[in-house]
Amino acid sequence: MAHYSGKTVFVTGASSGIGEAMVRNLASSPCTIFIGARSTDKLESLKNELETNHVKIHAIPMDLSDSKSLVNAFNELSRRTDRLDLLINNGGISQRGLAKDTEFSVVNRIMQVNFLGTIEWTTHCMPLLLKANKAHIIAISSVVGEYGFPLRSAYAASKHALKGYFQSMQLEPDSPSVSIVSPGRITTNISINALNSDGKKHGEMDAGQAGGVSAEKAAEKILRRAAQRKNNIFIGSGEIVLLYISRYLPPLYRRIAKNISPN
Ligand SMILES: NC(=O)c1ccc[n+]([C@@H]2O[C@H](COP(=O)([O-])OP(=O)(O)OC[C@H]3O[C@@H](n4cnc5c(N)ncnc54)[C@H](OP(=O)(O)O)[C@@H]3O)[C@@H](O)[C@H]2O)c1
Repeated sequence: MAHYSGKTVFVTGASSGIGEAMVRNLASSPCTIFIGARSTDKLESLKNELETNHVKIHAIPMDLSDSKSLVNAFNELSRRTDRLDLLINNGGISQRGLAKDTEFSVVNRIMQVNFLGTIEWTTHCMPLLLKANKAHIIAISSVVGEYGFPLRSAYAASKHALKGYFQSMQLEPDSPSVSIVSPGRITTNISINALNSDGKKHGEMDAGQAGGVSAEKAAEKILRRAAQRKNNIFIGSGEIVLLYISRYLPPLYRRIAKNISPN
């Protein structure tokens, strides 16, 4: 996308799904892209596929649940750039388990990756963002950062926390601007990678996920609307209607949400 021409961007969770689709979209313009995730083989093959004379890509191994890994990732990043124009906080994991059955270690892990690790990484990156002219942050939340949803208690909590943090930053002086993105169902591996109540991978492509918006469409909309510095970006159809129902008619929302298939 032309808006990002010449910019230096960091994308977390770049090894698959929405993150990978955003990297592919960004690579259509000359720019420098840092791609972070745990799957270094996937990052390397994305770099090999997309790098050109005009698009510089650096693969940065990082685990959002491991502070030491984030320090190492930041050391690597700061050896290669002295500024960041855009930080895309996208890496995350979802959940498929009833709150009453879910082990605390699962709640802890989801909060660690989606909220605490993401904020830890943002804090590392802040000096580089503050060196850029009009830096921007894209925080990938979820529609369940707006309302609760069955089988998603810890996931919804982590996204509510993320939204609260970045909504506050949006109000603060001299901070990077922030777009908070709330997608509904996007067709990615998110349900396959989601954690069950015992911490094992759900391992299934849920029907709702398979029938969602494509990662490419979602990435295009996120980057286009973030270029306009939109505060809030919503992606989906029925999920967005539910958002308004949850705000203005909570009893109706509860009745509907209890009867939607959570898969
Ligand atoms: N798909 C949807 O319907 C949907 C809806 C709302 C919000 N979202 C949000 O969109 C974001 C991207 O998800 P996706 O749908 O693209 O799912 P995905 O295909 O499963 O991708 C998740 C990404 O996060 C990375 N990640 C997971 N755990 C990590 C960790 N501990 N440290 C570093 N990176 C980690 C993964 O990389 P590695 O495994 O290589 O580390 C992967 O690149 C997430 O924040 C998700 O909550 C998705």
